[in-house]
Amino acid sequence: MANESSGSSSDSAFAPLSAAYWQGRYDAGATGWDRGAVSPTLGSWIGSGALPRGRILMPGCGRGHEVVALAGLGFRVTGLDFAPAAVREVRGRLAEAGLEADVVATDLFAYAPAEPFDAIYEQTCLCAFAPTQWEEYERRLASWLVPGGRLAAAFMQTSAPTGPPFSCPPDAMRRLFGTERWEWPDDLVPVPHPLGLVELTGILRRRPS
Ligand SMILES: C[S@@+](CC[C@H](N)C(=O)[O-])C[C@H]1O[C@@H](n2cnc3c(N)ncnc32)[C@H](O)[C@@H]1O
Repeated sequence: MANESSGSSSDSAFAPLSAAYWQGRYDAGATGWDRGAVSPTLGSWIGSGALPRGRILMPGCGRGHEVVALAGLGFRVTGLDFAPAAVREVRGRLAEAGLEADVVATDLFAYAPAEPFDAIYEQTCLCAFAPTQWEEYERRLASWLVPGGRLAAAFMQTSAPTGPPFSCPPDAMRRLFGTERWEWPDDLVPVPHPLGLVELTGILRRRPS
């Protein structure tokens, strides 16, 4: 995704990107964000037991490598995406693997789950939004979690002033996910992304309100 000329919007065009835009990226094969495999971050979180085994949501799940992996590990997973190609692919992968997960085709800014989740896995979804949408997204993430629920986050770092991907630098993330609502880990762990970028990863806890 990074700096792919087919996808960048200009500074003056921070309007929300539509489902048609993202579908166009899949149609064009312009999906550089996709590792083609599960992020190594997930393996370390699973290994350390940091993710509670319960209901977990992956908003903007894309092709859903992590959705399939988590379902295979016994998590009750919901993947959500509004690009039809992404939804089709993740459903196909689940069927091939003989696994079950909910795959919801909707705009996450209109999503209201029937029950809150124990955890959310946020990976390259926040960076798909212009900063003007971040506060609304943060409020939604908080509302989708049980008190004490975990937000497993991979914050994309880029040096570009525009996006997607919009850079999610740590100081901006600490302001966005403020300590009145979120407990932070001591450190964020850098994880290389195949685009030549770095994600800063860590698990935040939603404070009981
Ligand atoms: C950069 S991709 C990341 C995909 C996946 N998280 C990954 O790491 O491979 C962003 C995904 O979010 C989806 N998306 C963007 N805005 C969305 C919205 N408002 N509602 C639902 N899905 C959205 C896009 O269709 C796309 O599949």
